[in-house]
Amino acid sequence: MTDSNKSSHGEWSSRMAFILAATGSAVGLGNIWKFPYITGENGGGAFVIVYLMCVLLIGIPIMIAETMIGRRGKRNPIGTMALLAKESDADPNWHYLGWLGVVAGFLILSYYSVIAGWGLSYILNVFTGSFSGAGGEKVQTIFNDFMASPLQQLFWHTVFMVVTMSVVARGVTEGLERAVQWLMPALFFLLLLLVAYAMSTNSYFKGLNFLFNTDFSKITGQSVLTAMGHAFFTLSLGMGAIMVYGAYLPKDISIARTTVIVAGADTLVALLAGMAIFPIVFENNLQPGSGPGLIFQTLPIAFGNMTGGWFFGILFFVLLVFAALSSSISLIEPAVAWLVETRNMTRQRACVWAGAVTWLLGLGTIFSFNIWSEFKIFDRTVFELLDYLTANLMLPIGGFCIAIFAGWVMKQEHCKKELHLTNPHYFEVWRFLVCYVSPAAVFLVFLNVVGVI
Ligand code: TRP
Repeated sequence: MTDSNKSSHGEWSSRMAFILAATGSAVGLGNIWKFPYITGENGGGAFVIVYLMCVLLIGIPIMIAETMIGRRGKRNPIGTMALLAKESDADPNWHYLGWLGVVAGFLILSYYSVIAGWGLSYILNVFTGSFSGAGGEKVQTIFNDFMASPLQQLFWHTVFMVVTMSVVARGVTEGLERAVQWLMPALFFLLLLLVAYAMSTNSYFKGLNFLFNTDFSKITGQSVLTAMGHAFFTLSLGMGAIMVYGAYLPKDISIARTTVIVAGADTLVALLAGMAIFPIVFENNLQPGSGPGLIFQTLPIAFGNMTGGWFFGILFFVLLVFAALSSSISLIEPAVAWLVETRNMTRQRACVWAGAVTWLLGLGTIFSFNIWSEFKIFDRTVFELLDYLTANLMLPIGGFCIAIFAGWVMKQEHCKKELHLTNPHYFEVWRFLVCYVSPAAVFLVFLNVVGVI
């Protein structure tokens, strides 16, 4: 094993590099693809409020905890949990938390890559002019035809997996850092442009109203669980991704401050995506609750009808794919780091294995949109089941355990030393949140969903 002061995979070259990489991991399909459609399915504004509260009260404290654990352990999540459990004289079984994360990463990436593949295919669609002047109906037909074709989706899923694994194979500073440096600002700019387009439609305020009006009668236990699960998903929490990124973080950087910046940027991107998409939905008489296809059925209308839409459309889908890429590398990094450290594999070989398994799992998602669309387990297609299992169950459970570990198991002097907060009150606030508020919130939501309260 490596010496305990530095990770064997290298380190981020600066604070900015970590912020970019963590933001790269956080900002992805979750913000632009998933947030709008689950907001649509769960009735709008009230759901958004619940989600924002979850980010604040559960997401940020746990993100601080997870980064801190990672930096102290400096290993893959399984190794880190084993090491810190030993250091804290705790049960060695805590290392299973690392396992939960590695498995969750595989499962999430398997469907994430399929959706990123949709994005790739849409670059080509815009390029060939399929959407120029198109209305809602035409755009919907194109989407439905694409969903009906397993082969096309398989092709793009394969392309995306190959690209992801070749970036990961190049290692931390070479591969991961470079990929995100210019991407985030460009994506942000394009979203602003789309919001500007949305403002020019007659339905802008209707869209805004949907996004921000708070009608709590639409909120159910399930939608609170979805909002909480999404807070974990969008911040990349609960499965060791941020833990590994924390492991590559130099000692002198303030974890709390960087975390707040990352969470803030992530939330902003999601809200901008919502502000761009819902006005287009209402302007074209589409349904906000139309599911995973939502952005693929709305944004092309904007690109098909705005000035410069061809150019901006291509750019947007290229950036979407890059945002997905900078997230997917963090989904697979824990597994790769584990294979390298404990199976004695080269990084390249580990990437081939991890990539192949994920690719294969991805077939389940592709088929759930066509040949297996009637095949349901617990009333869900394979894609829906994977999504529910990971985002709504595994990530909150992982996050809950991380909070308990940081709050109750680790020695407080160790936490203090890692966080080195200048203001001692901040430490108390954080401790209160991870000891009581975040775990209790997760627990109550679960109790509610299983019908106990
Ligand atoms: N946060 C990313 C998104 O919103 C997805 C993601 C990347 C993720 N790494 C993760 C989700 C780790 C959960 C855990 O698109």
